[in-house]
Amino acid sequence: MKIGVFDSGKGGTTVLETIKRFLPEEEYYYIADSKNCPYGNKTKSELLEITSGIVDELKKWGAEIVVVACNTATTNCIKDLRDKYPELKFVGVEPAIKLAADTGSRKILVMATPGTIKSERTMALLNENRKIGQEIRLLACPGLAETIENDGDVGLALRNVLKEVLAEAEEYDSVVLGCTHYPLIRNKIQEFFPKAVLIDGNVAVAKQVKRAIDEIKKSPL
Ligand code: DGL
Repeated sequence: MKIGVFDSGKGGTTVLETIKRFLPEEEYYYIADSKNCPYGNKTKSELLEITSGIVDELKKWGAEIVVVACNTATTNCIKDLRDKYPELKFVGVEPAIKLAADTGSRKILVMATPGTIKSERTMALLNENRKIGQEIRLLACPGLAETIENDGDVGLALRNVLKEVLAEAEEYDSVVLGCTHYPLIRNKIQEFFPKAVLIDGNVAVAKQVKRAIDEIKKSPL
């Protein structure tokens, strides 16, 4: 089956690799929309316009499933994309707040782009999953994905976006990597949070893709 995957650049390759490991038989098409990177500071309507253009392209290539391998695009416009393209199955990547909350961590940090942090979906994920006594801090990281995309000074960008939380860095049990670019610098992030488990949602996405394939096979569109 043809599966289209996209992101604002190379971040989504971390998702693609996980899906491919899990489902090696399928045919994959990847769009790295680096000319529009970063997505993280765009409005919802800008994101819908950009992502619709990409979905149109993936459709032309015959994709039946589209993986929005970007937390910013998923949290802001996957619902609109589903309404606009009912003939396609969409799977999105969301900040893995549920996974982190379910580990029983007491203090959780969610790192993501400004667009993801201020989305209604992220707030809903937090409210739906936070357990009693659990502290979940949302941290917008402007410029970090772009620095990763452009092979810039990641250490400097991290010190900049993390400055508000550095004093309490050792208190975090979990750090959610709520942008698909961040697993590319997992080791660097870990250096700032030596005691925390770093969590992304990539495996959950691969499982959802498997479910989408099974659904299409059961009742072809
Ligand atoms: N990798 C994307 C995400 O997961 C977008 C990063 C960006 O372009 O700002 O949010």
